[in-house]
Amino acid sequence: MEDGLFLVLEGVEGAGKTTQVRLLEEWLKGLGLDVTAAREPGGTALGEAVRAVLLDRSELEVPPESELLLVLAARAAFVKDVVLPARARGDVVVADRFSLSTFAYQAYGRGIELETVRRLDAFARAGLEPDLTLLLDLPPEEGVRRQRTAGKGCDRIEQAGKAFHARVATGYRALAASGDHRICVIDAVGTTDAVHGLVRAALREAFPGTFRILTG
Ligand SMILES: Nc1ncnc2c1ncn2[C@@H]1O[C@H](COP(=O)(O)OP(=O)(O)OP(=O)(O)O)[C@@H](O)[C@H]1O
Ligand SMILES: [Mg+2]
Repeated sequence: MEDGLFLVLEGVEGAGKTTQVRLLEEWLKGLGLDVTAAREPGGTALGEAVRAVLLDRSELEVPPESELLLVLAARAAFVKDVVLPARARGDVVVADRFSLSTFAYQAYGRGIELETVRRLDAFARAGLEPDLTLLLDLPPEEGVRRQRTAGKGCDRIEQAGKAFHARVATGYRALAASGDHRICVIDAVGTTDAVHGLVRAALREAFPGTFRILTG
């Protein structure tokens, strides 16, 4: 591909983002495309360091404003060091979370004014927009159930409580409904394979030029 694509997977805890990023990466590679997949915060050494502070240090008191700025500090490095070079090479970049997470978690969840979050986020990503954000839509309690089944431990954000996660879920839906972003809502309730099929269908519809003849 001449100009790469920048795709983002989003959704509440346990919605299936990491699972679907992996399946999407395999599918795209099978179609002969070059893929760069990464998680946010993360994807760079700085991003992983920020992730360790934000998620693994559950004893830390982190004011919402600090949390926002840390996430965005990681994002600036992610965009500069990962997304832009990969897209310039013609890769499909698949990110596990990006700006929509920041709107849902730090604005709707933590209560920072959405316009402030948007402004700071635009600075951090230097204006770069995803070509498409796939929002895996799952009731938050179902996501928690999936994580429990997997025996996954709770990180600092996951510990934030039911009301917080309900606000995040509401935020995601409101953001998708606002039409402000290129978001495709994917019903994430079905099996892993069923959801992957919906992801493929959404990409074929959004990028017919790229995926028209690539019917894997
Ligand atoms: N469609 C599905 N049906 C049932 N279980 C699923 C499905 N997709 C993923 N899972 C399982 O649910 C758990 C959470 O999935 P996954 O880690 O992909 O979610 P996530 O959105 O990345 O979560 P987190 O927000 O914690 O990073 C995993 O154990 C995964 O195997
Ligand atoms: Mg994950």
